[in-house]
Amino acid sequence: MTPRKRIAILASGGGSNAEALMKAMQAPDFPAEAVLVFSNVPGAGVLQKAAAYGVTAKVLHHKAYPDREAFDQAVLAVLAGARPDYLCLAGYLRILTPGFVRAYAGRILNIHPALLPKFGGPGMHGHHVHEAVLAAGERESGATVHFVDEGVDSGPIVLQQRVPVLEGDTVEHLAARVLEAEHLAYPRALEVLCKNL
Ligand code: GRF
Repeated sequence: MTPRKRIAILASGGGSNAEALMKAMQAPDFPAEAVLVFSNVPGAGVLQKAAAYGVTAKVLHHKAYPDREAFDQAVLAVLAGARPDYLCLAGYLRILTPGFVRAYAGRILNIHPALLPKFGGPGMHGHHVHEAVLAAGERESGATVHFVDEGVDSGPIVLQQRVPVLEGDTVEHLAARVLEAEHLAYPRALEVLCKNL
């Protein structure tokens, strides 16, 4: 059997996607294992989730660094200690510097709560995404797992999971439906990728 791929998860918030990934990776036949959870937010909910799954967690607060480059270099040093094959961004609210992306070129995944290339790019995060989907009168939305390149939400798509937009949907209802799709899509995308490497 080929060795399981080593995965570092980067998250800034509650970490429900991180949890979905850690849960999937608990299965002994899953082709990847979680080796690190990293957060830029002290006290972020994802840290407790990492502890619950027995995954090592590390935190560096971005505000303690003079600029993005210095912070990203410090994050790279932390990651190097865990020797990850892939990074999974899961609600990681930092734009990555080009140097960071180059260090893991083709090995960084992200999940976005819409069907890219629509409703992506700078400013398209959280409730803004679902507001825009509803305002545009879309009939469907969903989750997109994609590779990260040096742009914002612009890298190659790995997999999409669609959900309907329902009559009278609110941002909250749509967001909850998309989040459920995210929890299916992210582990599935990781499995497909790691199996085919
Ligand atoms: C998700 O909607 C994800 O698509 C976006 O940030 C949110 C993170 O939620 N990038 P959680 O922390 O995984 O619950």
